[in-house]
Amino acid sequence: MTAPATYSTTQKLLHWVIALLIAEQVIVALAMTNVGKGPLQDQLYEWHKSLGLMALALVLARILVRLSRGAPKREAGLLAWQRKAADASHAALYGLIVLVPILGWAGTSACCAPVNLFGALPLTLPVSGGMPVGSAILNVHSVAAFALVALVCLHAGAALHHHVIRRDGTLRRMLAAR
Ligand code: HEM
Ligand code: HEM
Repeated sequence: MTAPATYSTTQKLLHWVIALLIAEQVIVALAMTNVGKGPLQDQLYEWHKSLGLMALALVLARILVRLSRGAPKREAGLLAWQRKAADASHAALYGLIVLVPILGWAGTSACCAPVNLFGALPLTLPVSGGMPVGSAILNVHSVAAFALVALVCLHAGAALHHHVIRRDGTLRRMLAAR
C-alpha cells in the first residue's frame, strides 16, 4: 500500500475524539469508585459503561480506516530504534484501546448484568461465572486502563518532544490542516 501524504480528517477526528473519551472514562471511573453508594454512583457507572461502549465502536471504526488507508511516512531523520519505538507504542496503544473496553464489558456482563447502552439497547455479553469471574476480569480491566494512561503520557510526551525540541512536523500532522 502506498503511504498517504497526510492523516485524513476522519483519522484526525477519530484520534482526538477517542483521546477525549478515554480521558473522560478515566475521570468518571475514579469518581464512580470513590463517590460512595447512592444514585450519583449508579449514574456514573451507567455513563462509564455506555460511553466506554461508544469508545469501543469508534476504536473499531478507526482501525478499519487505518487498515484501509494506512498512515503517512514518519518524519525524516529518525533513528531506526526511534521508528521501532514509535511503531511498537502505537501498536500497544491500539491493542489497549480495544482490550480495555472489551474487558470492562465482559467483566460487567459476568458480575452485574444487564449492560444497557444508555438504558435503552441491551448489550450483555454471554459471560458466565458470576461475581468471582466478573471481578477478576474487572481487576484486569482496571490494571490495563492504568497501563493505557501511562502509555498515553509517554506518547503525548514524545509528541511534545517532536514539536518543541526537534521542531519537526509530527504533531502538526495530527492537527487540523491550516
Ligand atoms: C476506553 C474505555 C474505558 C476506560 C479507559 C476505562 C477505565 C476504567 C478505569 C481506570 C477503572 C478503574 C477505576 C478505579 O479502580 O478507581 C475502571 C473501572 C470500571 N470499568 Fe471501565 N473503562 C472503560 C470502559 C468500560 C466499559 C465499556 C465498561 C462496561 C461496559 C466498564 C466497566 C467498568 C466497571 C464496572 C469498573 C469498576 C470496577 C470496580 O468496581 O472495581 N469500563 N474503568
Ligand atoms: C488517549 C489518548 C491517546 C491515544 C489512545 C492515542 C493513540 C494514538 C495512536 C494509536 C496513534 C497512531 C496513529 C496511526 O498511525 O494510525 C497516534 C498518533 C499520534 N498521536 Fe496520539 N493518542 C492519544 C493522545 C495523544 C495526545 C494527547 C497527543 C499530543 C499531545 C497525541 C499526538 C499524536 C501524534 C502527533 C500522532 C502522529 C504520530 C505519527 O504519525 O508519527 N496523541 N495516537
